Amino acid sequence: MKTATSNRVLALALAAGLGLSVTAQAAEQGDAKEGDFLRGAKAWADNCTRCHNVRDPKELRDDQWKTTVFHMRVRGGLTGQQTRDIIKFLQESN
Ligand code: HEC
Repeated sequence: MKTATSNRVLALALAAGLGLSVTAQAAEQGDAKEGDFLRGAKAWADNCTRCHNVRDPKELRDDQWKTTVFHMRVRGGLTGQQTRDIIKFLQESN
């Protein structure tokens, strides 16, 4: 009787623990893929002024920014994550 109860408690604790770690991992991976506005603002200020004057986010439409930043990603050697972050920032600021 005592053993059955503690086994059930152990099973519940394990299930809860596993559930939590799987959720945390998924959230981490999701966050890493999606563009982030604040990170993008910083990456934009750090990288997009290196070769020319800063271009106003309002200069281009969402679709134009996507194409332009892909082009600039190659020039500037940006990572995929920096590129997604910058696109997110520009598309929310134009
Ligand atoms: C390694 C140097 C370099 C970096 C870093 C760079 N650019 Fe450029 N950019 C250029 C050059 C050179 C041109 C002009 C020729 C061209 O379009 O490739 C240009 C052109 C542009 C244009 C004008 C395009 C057009 O058709 O009017 C925009 C807008 C622009 N860059 C935005 C950005 C943004 C946003 C970033 C940051 C993600 C960035 N650039 C980073 C070199 C760079």
